[in-house]
Amino acid sequence: MNSTVTTSVTEIVLPGKVEPEGLELRVRELPAPAKGQVVLRMDATGVCFAEQQMRRGKYYDQPPFPFVPGYDVVGTVTAAGPDVDAAVIGRRFAAVTKTGAWASHLLVDAVDLMPVPDAVDAVAAETVVVNGITAWQLLHRVAKVAAGGTVVVLGANGGVGSTLVQLARHAGITVIGTASPRHHATVTALGATPVDYRDPDLYARIRELAPDGVDAVFDHVGGDAVEESWRLLRKGGTLVSYGTAATKDEDGSSQLPVLKLFARLNAWNALPNGKSAHFYNFWAGKRRCRASWQQRLNEDFAQVLGLVADGVLTPQIAAEFPLSETTAALVLAESRTVAGKVVLVPEA
Ligand SMILES: NC(=O)c1ccc[n+]([C@@H]2O[C@H](COP(=O)([O-])OP(=O)(O)OC[C@H]3O[C@@H](n4cnc5c(N)ncnc54)[C@H](OP(=O)(O)O)[C@@H]3O)[C@@H](O)[C@H]2O)c1
Repeated sequence: MNSTVTTSVTEIVLPGKVEPEGLELRVRELPAPAKGQVVLRMDATGVCFAEQQMRRGKYYDQPPFPFVPGYDVVGTVTAAGPDVDAAVIGRRFAAVTKTGAWASHLLVDAVDLMPVPDAVDAVAAETVVVNGITAWQLLHRVAKVAAGGTVVVLGANGGVGSTLVQLARHAGITVIGTASPRHHATVTALGATPVDYRDPDLYARIRELAPDGVDAVFDHVGGDAVEESWRLLRKGGTLVSYGTAATKDEDGSSQLPVLKLFARLNAWNALPNGKSAHFYNFWAGKRRCRASWQQRLNEDFAQVLGLVADGVLTPQIAAEFPLSETTAALVLAESRTVAGKVVLVPEA
Protein backbone atom coordinates (compact mmCIF):
# COMPACT_ATOMS: atom_id res chain seq x y z
CA MET A 1 0.00 0.00 0.00
CA ASN A 2 1.41 3.41 -0.91
CA SER A 3 1.35 6.21 1.64
CA THR A 4 0.37 9.87 1.50
CA VAL A 5 1.11 10.62 5.17
CA THR A 6 3.45 13.59 5.71
CA THR A 7 6.51 13.29 7.94
CA SER A 8 8.19 15.77 10.28
CA VAL A 9 11.80 16.14 9.18
CA THR A 10 14.81 17.57 11.01
CA GLU A 11 17.50 18.74 8.62
CA ILE A 12 20.75 20.66 8.61
CA VAL A 13 20.85 23.72 6.38
CA LEU A 14 23.95 25.33 4.89
CA PRO A 15 22.73 28.94 4.68
CA GLY A 16 25.69 30.41 2.79
CA LYS A 17 29.49 30.53 2.99
CA VAL A 18 29.83 29.93 6.73
CA GLU A 19 32.08 28.31 9.28
CA PRO A 20 30.77 24.93 10.54
CA GLU A 21 29.17 26.79 13.47
CA GLY A 22 26.96 28.59 10.94
CA LEU A 23 25.02 25.43 10.02
CA GLU A 24 21.33 25.73 10.92
CA LEU A 25 18.93 23.07 12.18
CA ARG A 26 15.46 23.24 10.65
CA VAL A 27 12.30 21.27 11.36
CA ARG A 28 9.59 21.12 8.70
CA GLU A 29 6.95 18.87 7.23
CA LEU A 30 8.22 16.66 4.44
CA PRO A 31 5.68 16.50 1.61
CA ALA A 32 4.20 13.12 0.81
CA PRO A 33 6.31 11.25 -1.78
CA ALA A 34 5.40 12.13 -5.35
CA LYS A 35 5.16 9.65 -8.21
CA GLY A 36 8.28 7.50 -8.28
CA GLN A 37 9.57 8.71 -4.89
CA VAL A 38 9.97 7.21 -1.44
CA VAL A 39 10.52 8.65 2.01
CA LEU A 40 13.81 7.37 3.40
CA ARG A 41 14.35 7.52 7.16
CA MET A 42 18.05 8.21 7.61
CA ASP A 43 19.95 5.48 9.47
CA ALA A 44 23.38 6.91 8.62
CA THR A 45 24.79 9.71 6.50
CA GLY A 46 28.20 11.34 6.70
CA VAL A 47 30.67 14.08 5.96
CA CYS A 48 32.49 14.01 2.61
CA PHE A 49 35.20 16.30 1.33
CA ALA A 50 32.50 17.75 -0.92
CA GLU A 51 30.75 19.39 2.05
CA GLN A 52 34.03 20.96 3.10
CA GLN A 53 34.17 22.51 -0.37
CA MET A 54 30.46 23.41 -0.45
CA ARG A 55 30.59 25.48 2.71
CA ARG A 56 33.32 27.54 1.03
CA GLY A 57 31.31 27.77 -2.20
CA LYS A 58 34.05 25.69 -3.84
CA TYR A 59 32.26 22.55 -5.05
CA TYR A 60 32.11 22.40 -8.84
CA ASP A 61 28.33 22.36 -9.33
CA GLN A 62 26.78 22.96 -5.91
CA PRO A 63 23.24 24.37 -5.76
CA PRO A 64 22.65 27.98 -4.72
CA PHE A 65 22.52 28.65 -0.95
CA PRO A 66 20.64 27.85 1.21
CA PHE A 67 20.48 24.07 0.85
CA VAL A 68 20.71 20.88 2.87
CA PRO A 69 24.07 19.14 2.27
CA GLY A 70 24.64 15.40 2.59
CA TYR A 71 26.20 13.44 -0.26
CA ASP A 72 24.96 9.95 0.57
CA VAL A 73 22.72 8.06 2.93
CA VAL A 74 21.72 4.67 4.22
CA GLY A 75 18.13 4.53 5.38
CA THR A 76 14.88 2.64 5.69
CA VAL A 77 11.91 3.34 3.44
CA THR A 78 8.91 4.52 5.46
CA ALA A 79 6.54 5.51 2.65
CA ALA A 80 6.26 5.03 -1.10
CA GLY A 81 4.65 7.34 -3.64
CA PRO A 82 2.45 6.41 -6.57
CA ASP A 83 3.98 3.92 -9.03
CA VAL A 84 6.46 2.61 -6.45
CA ASP A 85 6.24 -1.01 -5.36
CA ALA A 86 5.11 -0.84 -1.71
CA ALA A 87 7.29 -3.90 -0.98
CA VAL A 88 10.19 -1.46 -0.50
CA ILE A 89 8.58 -0.11 2.70
CA GLY A 90 10.52 -1.26 5.75
CA ARG A 91 13.58 -2.24 3.70
CA ARG A 92 17.06 -0.70 3.96
CA PHE A 93 18.69 1.04 1.02
CA ALA A 94 21.53 3.40 0.22
CA ALA A 95 21.44 6.36 -2.16
CA VAL A 96 23.91 8.91 -3.46
CA THR A 97 22.11 12.24 -3.29
CA LYS A 98 24.97 14.79 -3.69
CA THR A 99 22.94 17.09 -1.40
CA GLY A 100 20.00 16.64 0.95
CA ALA A 101 21.07 13.69 3.09
CA TRP A 102 21.83 15.60 6.31
CA ALA A 103 18.25 15.03 7.37
CA SER A 104 16.23 12.68 9.54
CA HIS A 105 14.06 11.86 6.51
CA LEU A 106 14.35 12.71 2.83
CA LEU A 107 12.57 12.13 -0.44
CA VAL A 108 14.51 9.92 -2.83
CA ASP A 109 13.66 8.71 -6.32
CA ALA A 110 12.97 5.00 -6.03
CA VAL A 111 15.25 4.32 -9.04
CA ASP A 112 18.18 5.65 -6.98
CA LEU A 113 17.75 3.09 -4.19
CA MET A 114 20.51 0.51 -3.82
CA PRO A 115 19.74 -2.44 -1.51
CA VAL A 116 21.71 -2.82 1.72
CA PRO A 117 21.52 -6.33 3.21
CA ASP A 118 20.51 -6.60 6.87
CA ALA A 119 23.83 -8.36 7.55
CA VAL A 120 25.72 -5.09 6.99
CA ASP A 121 25.38 -2.47 9.71
CA ALA A 122 24.05 0.91 8.48
CA VAL A 123 27.07 2.87 9.69
CA ALA A 124 29.47 0.40 8.10
CA ALA A 125 27.49 0.57 4.85
CA GLU A 126 27.51 4.36 4.93
CA THR A 127 31.32 4.44 4.77
CA VAL A 128 31.24 2.70 1.39
CA VAL A 129 28.36 4.37 -0.45
CA VAL A 130 29.93 7.23 -2.44
CA ASN A 131 33.40 6.36 -1.11
CA GLY A 132 33.13 2.67 -1.93
CA ILE A 133 31.61 3.12 -5.37
CA THR A 134 34.15 5.82 -6.22
CA ALA A 135 37.08 3.69 -5.05
CA TRP A 136 35.78 0.64 -6.94
CA GLN A 137 35.25 2.58 -10.15
CA LEU A 138 38.63 4.35 -9.93
CA LEU A 139 40.37 1.00 -9.61
CA HIS A 140 38.30 -1.40 -11.68
CA ARG A 141 36.54 0.75 -14.28
CA VAL A 142 39.17 3.44 -14.95
CA ALA A 143 42.70 2.33 -14.05
CA LYS A 144 42.12 -1.43 -14.48
CA VAL A 145 45.45 -2.31 -12.86
CA ALA A 146 46.28 -6.01 -12.95
CA ALA A 147 47.37 -8.09 -9.96
CA GLY A 148 51.08 -7.66 -9.39
CA GLY A 149 50.98 -3.96 -10.30
CA THR A 150 51.95 -1.02 -8.11
CA VAL A 151 49.86 2.09 -7.50
CA VAL A 152 50.08 5.32 -5.53
CA VAL A 153 47.02 6.42 -3.55
CA LEU A 154 47.16 10.03 -2.41
CA GLY A 155 45.31 10.66 0.86
CA ALA A 156 45.37 6.99 1.86
CA ASN A 157 43.77 7.78 5.24
CA GLY A 158 40.76 9.56 3.71
CA GLY A 159 37.28 8.14 3.11
CA VAL A 160 37.87 7.24 -0.54
CA GLY A 161 41.61 6.67 -0.07
CA SER A 162 41.34 4.14 2.77
CA THR A 163 38.74 2.17 0.79
CA LEU A 164 40.79 2.30 -2.39
CA VAL A 165 43.88 1.00 -0.58
CA GLN A 166 41.93 -2.00 0.70
CA LEU A 167 40.34 -2.76 -2.68
CA ALA A 168 43.72 -2.57 -4.39
CA ARG A 169 45.38 -4.82 -1.83
CA HIS A 170 42.53 -7.31 -2.23
CA ALA A 171 43.17 -7.26 -5.98
CA GLY A 172 46.83 -8.22 -5.42
CA ILE A 173 48.22 -4.75 -6.09
CA THR A 174 51.10 -3.15 -4.18
CA VAL A 175 50.08 0.23 -2.76
CA ILE A 176 52.12 3.25 -1.75
CA GLY A 177 49.87 5.60 0.21
CA THR A 178 50.49 9.24 1.08
CA ALA A 179 49.30 10.48 4.46
CA SER A 180 50.49 12.59 7.34
CA PRO A 181 52.69 10.64 9.80
CA ARG A 182 49.89 10.48 12.40
CA HIS A 183 48.08 8.07 10.03
CA HIS A 184 51.03 5.92 8.99
CA ALA A 185 50.16 3.10 11.38
CA THR A 186 46.59 3.03 9.98
CA VAL A 187 47.81 3.07 6.38
CA THR A 188 50.26 0.25 7.16
CA ALA A 189 47.46 -1.75 8.77
CA LEU A 190 45.43 -1.34 5.56
CA GLY A 191 48.32 -2.97 3.71
CA ALA A 192 50.01 0.01 2.03
CA THR A 193 53.47 1.51 2.45
CA PRO A 194 52.93 4.99 3.90
CA VAL A 195 54.86 8.08 2.80
CA ASP A 196 54.54 11.54 4.33
CA TYR A 197 52.86 13.95 1.90
CA ARG A 198 54.58 16.91 3.61
CA ASP A 199 58.06 15.44 3.10
CA PRO A 200 59.90 17.73 0.62
CA ASP A 201 61.45 14.55 -0.82
CA LEU A 202 58.06 12.82 -1.17
CA TYR A 203 58.42 12.00 -4.86
CA ALA A 204 62.04 10.85 -4.51
CA ARG A 205 60.89 8.57 -1.69
CA ILE A 206 58.15 7.10 -3.90
CA ARG A 207 60.71 6.55 -6.69
CA GLU A 208 62.93 4.67 -4.23
CA LEU A 209 59.97 2.40 -3.47
CA ALA A 210 59.01 1.99 -7.15
CA PRO A 211 62.15 2.63 -9.24
CA ASP A 212 60.51 1.47 -12.50
CA GLY A 213 57.54 3.79 -12.08
CA VAL A 214 54.02 2.87 -11.08
CA ASP A 215 50.98 1.56 -12.96
CA ALA A 216 48.57 4.17 -11.64
CA VAL A 217 48.42 7.24 -9.46
CA PHE A 218 45.06 8.17 -7.90
CA ASP A 219 45.22 11.93 -7.38
CA HIS A 220 42.43 13.95 -5.76
CA VAL A 221 44.77 16.80 -4.79
CA GLY A 222 45.23 18.49 -8.17
CA GLY A 223 47.05 21.84 -8.26
CA ASP A 224 50.57 22.00 -9.65
CA ALA A 225 51.67 18.79 -7.87
CA VAL A 226 49.54 16.75 -10.28
CA GLU A 227 52.52 17.05 -12.61
CA GLU A 228 54.58 15.06 -10.11
CA SER A 229 51.89 12.38 -10.08
CA TRP A 230 52.12 12.19 -13.86
CA ARG A 231 55.92 11.81 -13.71
CA LEU A 232 55.64 8.84 -11.33
CA LEU A 233 53.99 6.69 -14.02
CA ARG A 234 55.83 4.02 -15.92
CA LYS A 235 55.16 3.59 -19.66
CA GLY A 236 51.61 2.26 -19.97
CA GLY A 237 50.66 3.81 -16.63
CA THR A 238 47.49 5.76 -15.89
CA LEU A 239 46.95 8.95 -13.96
CA VAL A 240 43.46 8.99 -12.46
CA SER A 241 42.70 12.49 -11.32
CA TYR A 242 39.48 12.89 -9.36
CA GLY A 243 39.62 16.11 -7.38
CA THR A 244 41.25 19.43 -6.63
CA ALA A 245 41.60 19.31 -2.85
CA ALA A 246 44.67 21.57 -3.00
CA THR A 247 42.59 24.54 -4.15
CA LYS A 248 39.81 24.25 -1.53
CA ASP A 249 40.99 27.31 0.40
CA GLU A 250 41.83 29.49 -2.59
CA ASP A 251 39.57 32.45 -3.38
CA GLY A 252 37.78 32.56 -6.68
CA SER A 253 35.84 30.32 -8.98
CA SER A 254 34.92 26.77 -7.99
CA GLN A 255 35.18 25.70 -11.61
CA LEU A 256 38.47 27.24 -12.75
CA PRO A 257 40.79 24.76 -10.92
CA VAL A 258 38.88 21.86 -12.48
CA LEU A 259 38.96 23.39 -15.97
CA LYS A 260 42.70 24.03 -15.64
CA LEU A 261 43.15 20.41 -14.60
CA PHE A 262 41.17 19.20 -17.64
CA ALA A 263 43.41 21.26 -19.93
CA ARG A 264 46.51 19.72 -18.38
CA LEU A 265 45.19 16.15 -18.61
CA ASN A 266 44.15 16.65 -22.24
CA ALA A 267 47.55 18.05 -23.15
CA TRP A 268 49.32 15.07 -21.57
CA ASN A 269 47.03 12.65 -23.35
CA ALA A 270 47.83 14.29 -26.67
CA LEU A 271 51.56 13.59 -26.23
CA PRO A 272 53.01 10.36 -27.65
CA ASN A 273 54.32 9.22 -24.26
CA GLY A 274 52.66 5.85 -23.73
CA LYS A 275 50.88 7.06 -20.62
CA SER A 276 47.29 8.14 -20.14
CA ALA A 277 45.46 10.64 -17.96
CA HIS A 278 41.79 10.48 -16.98
CA PHE A 279 39.47 12.62 -14.92
CA TYR A 280 36.99 10.49 -12.99
CA ASN A 281 33.57 12.01 -12.34
CA PHE A 282 31.13 9.96 -10.28
CA TRP A 283 28.17 11.54 -12.13
CA ALA A 284 29.48 11.08 -15.66
CA GLY A 285 26.99 9.27 -17.86
CA LYS A 286 23.94 9.98 -15.69
CA ARG A 287 22.41 12.49 -18.12
CA ARG A 288 23.21 10.36 -21.16
CA CYS A 289 21.56 7.22 -19.79
CA ARG A 290 20.35 7.24 -16.22
CA ALA A 291 19.35 3.58 -16.26
CA SER A 292 22.74 2.21 -17.27
CA TRP A 293 24.57 4.68 -15.01
CA GLN A 294 22.44 3.53 -12.06
CA GLN A 295 22.92 -0.09 -13.07
CA ARG A 296 26.71 0.35 -12.83
CA LEU A 297 26.33 1.99 -9.43
CA ASN A 298 24.19 -0.87 -8.19
CA GLU A 299 26.67 -3.46 -9.45
CA ASP A 300 29.69 -1.71 -8.00
CA PHE A 301 28.02 -0.99 -4.66
CA ALA A 302 26.96 -4.64 -4.42
CA GLN A 303 30.57 -5.71 -5.02
CA VAL A 304 31.85 -3.41 -2.30
CA LEU A 305 29.12 -4.35 0.18
CA GLY A 306 29.87 -8.01 -0.49
CA LEU A 307 33.49 -7.40 0.49
CA VAL A 308 32.33 -5.65 3.67
CA ALA A 309 30.00 -8.55 4.50
CA ASP A 310 32.86 -11.02 3.88
CA GLY A 311 35.19 -9.10 6.18
CA VAL A 312 37.61 -8.32 3.33
CA LEU A 313 36.92 -4.60 3.50
CA THR A 314 37.01 -3.04 6.96
CA PRO A 315 34.78 0.06 7.11
CA GLN A 316 36.86 3.01 8.27
CA ILE A 317 34.59 4.79 10.74
CA ALA A 318 36.37 7.85 12.10
CA ALA A 319 33.57 8.86 14.49
CA GLU A 320 29.79 8.90 14.89
CA PHE A 321 27.73 11.99 15.74
CA PRO A 322 23.97 12.46 16.05
CA LEU A 323 22.53 14.66 13.29
CA SER A 324 22.02 17.56 15.74
CA GLU A 325 25.83 17.62 16.22
CA THR A 326 26.68 18.03 12.55
CA THR A 327 28.75 21.13 13.33
CA ALA A 328 31.05 19.07 15.57
CA ALA A 329 31.17 16.35 12.91
CA LEU A 330 32.21 18.85 10.24
CA VAL A 331 34.81 20.45 12.53
CA LEU A 332 36.31 17.01 13.15
CA ALA A 333 36.24 16.06 9.47
CA GLU A 334 38.07 19.30 8.65
CA SER A 335 40.63 18.94 11.45
CA ARG A 336 43.03 16.90 9.28
CA THR A 337 43.34 14.41 12.15
CA VAL A 338 40.83 11.88 10.84
CA ALA A 339 41.22 8.45 9.30
CA GLY A 340 38.14 7.22 7.44
CA LYS A 341 34.65 8.72 7.41
CA VAL A 342 32.86 10.84 9.98
CA VAL A 343 29.32 9.41 10.14
CA LEU A 344 26.07 11.08 11.19
CA VAL A 345 23.32 9.00 12.77
CA PRO A 346 19.79 9.70 14.05
CA GLU A 347 19.30 11.12 17.54
CA ALA A 348 19.62 8.47 20.27
N1 LIG B 1 35.59 13.00 -8.87
C1 LIG B 1 34.63 12.42 -8.19
O1 LIG B 1 33.59 12.02 -8.73
C2 LIG B 1 34.82 12.23 -6.72
C3 LIG B 1 33.94 11.39 -5.99
C4 LIG B 1 34.17 11.25 -4.62
C5 LIG B 1 35.23 11.92 -4.02
N2 LIG B 1 36.02 12.73 -4.77
C6 LIG B 1 37.18 13.44 -4.17
O2 LIG B 1 37.87 12.50 -3.40
C7 LIG B 1 38.63 13.19 -2.43
C8 LIG B 1 38.50 12.48 -1.11
O3 LIG B 1 37.17 12.63 -0.63
P1 LIG B 1 36.82 12.08 0.81
O4 LIG B 1 35.39 12.38 1.06
O5 LIG B 1 37.34 10.71 0.93
O6 LIG B 1 37.70 13.08 1.71
P2 LIG B 1 38.32 12.92 3.14
O7 LIG B 1 37.80 11.71 3.82
O8 LIG B 1 38.16 14.25 3.79
O9 LIG B 1 39.86 12.66 2.85
C9 LIG B 1 40.62 13.65 2.23
C10 LIG B 1 42.03 13.14 2.07
O10 LIG B 1 42.76 14.09 1.32
C11 LIG B 1 43.88 14.57 2.07
N3 LIG B 1 44.01 15.98 1.75
C12 LIG B 1 43.10 16.95 1.96
N4 LIG B 1 43.57 18.13 1.51
C13 LIG B 1 44.80 17.89 1.01
C14 LIG B 1 45.79 18.69 0.40
N5 LIG B 1 45.60 20.00 0.23
N6 LIG B 1 46.93 18.09 0.00
C15 LIG B 1 47.13 16.76 0.19
N7 LIG B 1 46.21 15.95 0.75
C16 LIG B 1 45.07 16.50 1.16
C17 LIG B 1 43.50 14.32 3.51
O11 LIG B 1 44.67 14.25 4.30
P3 LIG B 1 44.61 14.81 5.82
O12 LIG B 1 43.68 13.88 6.55
O13 LIG B 1 46.01 14.76 6.28
O14 LIG B 1 44.05 16.18 5.70
C18 LIG B 1 42.77 12.99 3.39
O15 LIG B 1 43.68 11.94 3.26
C19 LIG B 1 38.11 14.64 -2.44
O16 LIG B 1 39.04 15.46 -3.11
C20 LIG B 1 36.83 14.55 -3.20
O17 LIG B 1 36.52 15.73 -3.85
C21 LIG B 1 35.83 12.89 -6.08
